[in-house]
Amino acid sequence: MDCAMNYETLKLEEKDGILTVTNSRPQALNALNTRFFVEMGALLKDLSVRTDIRVMVLTGEGKAFAAGADIAEMVTMDSKQGSEFSLLGQAVFQAMEDLPQPVIAAINGFALGGGCELALSCDVRVASTLAKFGQPEVKLGLTPGYAGTQRLPRLIGSGAALHLLLTGDMVNADEALRLGLVQKVTAPEALMTEVGAMAAKIASMGPKAVRLVKRLVRQGMAGDFKAGCSLESELFGSLFGNEGAEGMKAFLEKRPAKW
Ligand code: CAA
Repeated sequence: MDCAMNYETLKLEEKDGILTVTNSRPQALNALNTRFFVEMGALLKDLSVRTDIRVMVLTGEGKAFAAGADIAEMVTMDSKQGSEFSLLGQAVFQAMEDLPQPVIAAINGFALGGGCELALSCDVRVASTLAKFGQPEVKLGLTPGYAGTQRLPRLIGSGAALHLLLTGDMVNADEALRLGLVQKVTAPEALMTEVGAMAAKIASMGPKAVRLVKRLVRQGMAGDFKAGCSLESELFGSLFGNEGAEGMKAFLEKRPAKW
């Protein structure tokens, strides 16, 4: 990855086209500080041009995925600095959404405030039974700042989102599954194996098709239905004569596709 960047808050592991990124400041429950955003921003920029990496997995070290924005860093900020810290986080989370590769969140523990917003900016969320979710910002006299007020209602509906956002209540993994906040729940010891298997499955699919599916859903959800359908037809067509031709031919010849 970015050779110029000496990562302090992230640990990276690359294997078989899958990049596993671990948010690693366990002494502060992986709270998101400026350094985290600078590093994650640089990593995503670098990753966006890597065709050899097919899937990114994001997890946290210790008992948290991320316990929110770093309160110790925010406490001395004035209004302008607060807005800038929000804009920085929003830009990095948008870059995660815009990353060509799918991102799977492996949520090992607390995903609170900015940590829940980080999970929301990933494409698929898998939670350990130890995970806890919530948007407790109102308890601190704050609102979410990394687009939680926008992504959460789009994902789970405005009633369920407002319930979490207004009460600051934490929910466990099973409740998060019921709400549609996560797609799967696993035993803690099985989390990385299950996510690894999901990542490997995605990495074995047509690589162009995988990227285009993500782009179509992301762009479609942010825009207009008809424009999304029109882009779908165009990108569907773009796979004929190349990757799609091989995939369909392989099916008919009863052999694995060679991407
Ligand atoms: N920022 C900075 N430090 C944090 C932190 C955070 N968000 N969350 C935890 N920590 C630190 C604690 O201060 C503590 O540090 P010390 O050991 O130096 O005292 C260490 O991490 C361990 O935390 P606890 O002792 O509190 O651990 P616990 O197991 O007793 O409690 C917890 C766990 C319930 C998650 C609790 O730490 C907690 O409530 N954390 C804050 C959660 C929160 O309010 N998040 C929202 C932040 S605001 C935000 O995110 C705004 C935004 O959208 C932009």
